[in-house]
Amino acid sequence: MKSFITTVTLLVLTVLAMGVAAEKTDAPRPDGLRGAGYSATPAAPPIAGVTDRKGREERNYPEQPPVIPHSIDGYQLDKRFNQCLDCHSRSASPESGAPMVSITHFMDRNKQVLAAVSPDRYFCTQCHVPQTDAEPLVENRFETVDEVLRRLAEDGDGQGGAE
Ligand code: HEC
Ligand code: HEC
Repeated sequence: MKSFITTVTLLVLTVLAMGVAAEKTDAPRPDGLRGAGYSATPAAPPIAGVTDRKGREERNYPEQPPVIPHSIDGYQLDKRFNQCLDCHSRSASPESGAPMVSITHFMDRNKQVLAAVSPDRYFCTQCHVPQTDAEPLVENRFETVDEVLRRLAEDGDGQGGAE
């Protein structure tokens, strides 16, 4: 019995020691976006506010799902109900002033046009997202197609820059 207790005590101590060792071997503060070591729990940054802009946003390229220029907080979007279609459906759009869902959203994957929005497109926020006023975590070097064309024209060789 005595040896059993000793074994258990030793086991407990070993586990505790392992815990302490793990704490000590935490990686030095990485140069990461969290700005703290792996075991640290930094305070969560405040949730960025949704920008409620006036008017629609320009698309960066023609096939881009347009970003949502309004808040969608509290809008129901699940298998029972799609509140987006309350305003964006074909029948609701003239009254609500919201642009009608694109004609492409009525096509199934074989490009067969359906009478209602295709199930492929039911969960709008798979592709459309509202924007927030959050500072970008990393620099964004995206160039719109107009900027790319302008750069190519300025380079003059039609091949574009080396970048
Ligand atoms: C109360 C009505 C209403 C509801 C509900 C609503 N919208 Fe809108 N939405 C609008 C209006 C109005 C505009 C146009 C804004 C403008 O022109 O200023 C718009 C614009 C948009 C646009 C921009 C379209 C473009 O071509 O730039 C997208 C995308 C969009 N909404 C998606 C959604 C999604 C997704 C939901 C559901 C989560 C939703 N909306 C719910 C009224 C609504
Ligand atoms: C699989 C991705 C995807 C889903 C899901 C989706 N969309 Fe779109 N949406 C797009 C793309 C891409 C475009 C732009 C190209 C086009 O018209 O197909 C677009 C365009 C739009 C436009 C602009 C139409 C116009 O004529 O300017 C509206 C409004 C819109 N979507 C609303 C919605 C709503 C509401 C839902 C949910 C019922 C939805 N979308 C679901 C990808 C998606």
